[in-house]
Amino acid sequence: MSVTVVVGGFYGDEGKGKIVAFHALSQKPAVAVRGGVGPNAGHTVVMDGVTRKTRLIPSAFVCSRTQLCVSAGVLVEPSLFISEVNELGVAGRAYLDSGAGVIEKKHIELDRTDRNLSSRIGTTGTGTGPAMSDRVLRQLKLAGEIAELRPYMADIAGKIHNAIEEGESVLLEGTQGTFLSLYHGSYPYVTSKDVTASSICADAGIGPTCVDHVLVVFKSYVTRVGNGPLANELRQEEVENKGWTERGSVTGRLRRAAPFNIELAKRSVRLNGATMCALTKLDAIFPEASGMREYGKLPRESRAYIEELEEALGVPIVYVGTGSEVKDTVVVPH
Ligand code: IMP
Ligand code: MG
Repeated sequence: MSVTVVVGGFYGDEGKGKIVAFHALSQKPAVAVRGGVGPNAGHTVVMDGVTRKTRLIPSAFVCSRTQLCVSAGVLVEPSLFISEVNELGVAGRAYLDSGAGVIEKKHIELDRTDRNLSSRIGTTGTGTGPAMSDRVLRQLKLAGEIAELRPYMADIAGKIHNAIEEGESVLLEGTQGTFLSLYHGSYPYVTSKDVTASSICADAGIGPTCVDHVLVVFKSYVTRVGNGPLANELRQEEVENKGWTERGSVTGRLRRAAPFNIELAKRSVRLNGATMCALTKLDAIFPEASGMREYGKLPRESRAYIEELEEALGVPIVYVGTGSEVKDTVVVPH
């Protein structure tokens, strides 16, 4: 029974949704909690050929016993929250903290028309930055004030602490990636709050002493959407040749790409206090690893790669992704 925080190690889109879903299916947590910014995130879960994208509901929805919570630190767009609950068929086990912030139309409009946000930074246009700004000014509406959200209201911090006291597992899901952090990222080309593991805990209302594991998710190459520095960035033609072409799941924009960056990864391990890591899309650099589900079946050179990387990072790599299906995941023996 443990409390685990999952965060992205680079600039988001590392495959957190898939890793969270896999971890949830094996740990069967009583409670899963979304932390992070808000619906600027897009987490993708592919199970048995069915693709589901979530922007607010935790990716642990795949585990039927898990209560799905959105914490006080998160911003919600009420209609999006409600439609996601219905589309995923999770009414009855979806909860929202009354202290979560509410994104209104005016925030979305401002995010899309303000030149600094839309052109210079290249935000997702989902209203999260302007809503955070209103929250800091203490003029943002909270979820508890919105009548349509009443059926979902819960004290999420209370739920988490009760679960911990009952000896149940809890899974906290962060969003974006470490270097999009307002404090530790490439400011000003960042999101509107810190998104490292500490902040995900703060969003949920648990202190550092409650956490057993911090799982940092890396992808086998680095991608970035929006503006800002990306070391060793490849030309779009090179990205295509490598088969690394991706589009943002919220905005549909082409993602910029670069090879795996060990220095960034090491810094991410430190900033998040990682106790373990996951590496997704191994098949993008070792095509023969595609779809493998057992460590022993991975090509020898890919196993050597994982071992070297683990040595360099100084923390165990516990999961390796080999395909888009949640179950295309190798549990690395330790
Ligand atoms: P915002 O979070 O919409 O304000 O956007 C700020 C920056 O973070 C932009 O570069 C976005 O592309 C990036 N960003 C925000 N959310 C995500 C995400 O979930 N994945 C990848 N990039 C993101
Ligand atoms: Mg994403």
